[in-house]
Amino acid sequence: MSITPAERSAPGKVILCGEHSVVHGRPAIAIPISGMRAHARVEPGPPGSGLRMRASNLKREFLLRDLQPDHPLGRAAHLVLDHLQQPEPDAILTLWSDLPIASGMGSGAAITVAAARALAASLDSQLSADIVSGITFEVEKIHHGTPSGIDNTVIAWERPIYFVKGQAPEPIRIHTPFHLLIANSGIASSTREAVDEVRRRWMATPSYYDVVFNCIGAIVRAARAAAEQGALQALGTLLNENHELLAKMGVSLPQLDRLVQAARAAGALGAKLTGSGQGGNIIALVEAETLEPVRDALVVAGAATVWHTQVSTGYD
Ligand code: MEV
Repeated sequence: MSITPAERSAPGKVILCGEHSVVHGRPAIAIPISGMRAHARVEPGPPGSGLRMRASNLKREFLLRDLQPDHPLGRAAHLVLDHLQQPEPDAILTLWSDLPIASGMGSGAAITVAAARALAASLDSQLSADIVSGITFEVEKIHHGTPSGIDNTVIAWERPIYFVKGQAPEPIRIHTPFHLLIANSGIASSTREAVDEVRRRWMATPSYYDVVFNCIGAIVRAARAAAEQGALQALGTLLNENHELLAKMGVSLPQLDRLVQAARAAGALGAKLTGSGQGGNIIALVEAETLEPVRDALVVAGAATVWHTQVSTGYD
């Protein structure tokens, strides 16, 4: 079997609103971060070598045949090869990423999408967004336990989506481009632990948590309408309300609340934690003229890193 050298990449992501309640069947909105990406390259390897994988950021290298069945990269490669009905190729798959690990920006899903697409391309095949999302969902379960599927979906489709678990994603038509600042608290967060914790609390007091999830569902529907109409003030207010409900759910931290408050005080239209919480990142919705003051305020309030992404209309 001949290998065609191939390189592919996939974006990071942020959840605009609806995290956690999306695991429990309510809608959420996710946005790709096209400027920060994971990359994969496949080149021919020596005959008989099998598939060698190099994770450049981690400075690790391994052979597919040596990996346990639950190794994320091994699982991804097997799922692609099974789907294409191809044997293991003699090839070298190199992976690298701009995305910080365990920060809620979808680095694991982005690596899987990039690797799956590069491997398929090296075998002269192409995977649809649906197929690559499905493969990545299987790998996400190894990373995160019981994910909703939103991360693999937004990263595979690379466009803003309105997502309900088990349903086809609905692309969102952004009316007016807007800016998001993404500020990292410097506290590592585990999606698996946060999702498990919320599930335990929901099972202990379902009536309370169902109300919180329903309120967030209503916020997400309103946020979609606001994004599609360019009503950025309203969108900001909805993000603020979503943060208060996430805090009620128990997934915020004083450090995250401090970053959110600092962003709002410096002129952000809205700010909230994003992703699993209990650490990780917040997002702030800002206009061009408040971008720098809000960025400065986030740094003063203790942000370890602040990234900027523009959410544009040009996804069609
Ligand atoms: C993770 O990006 C968002 C969560 O809602 C988990 C999930 O949807 O799988 C916390």
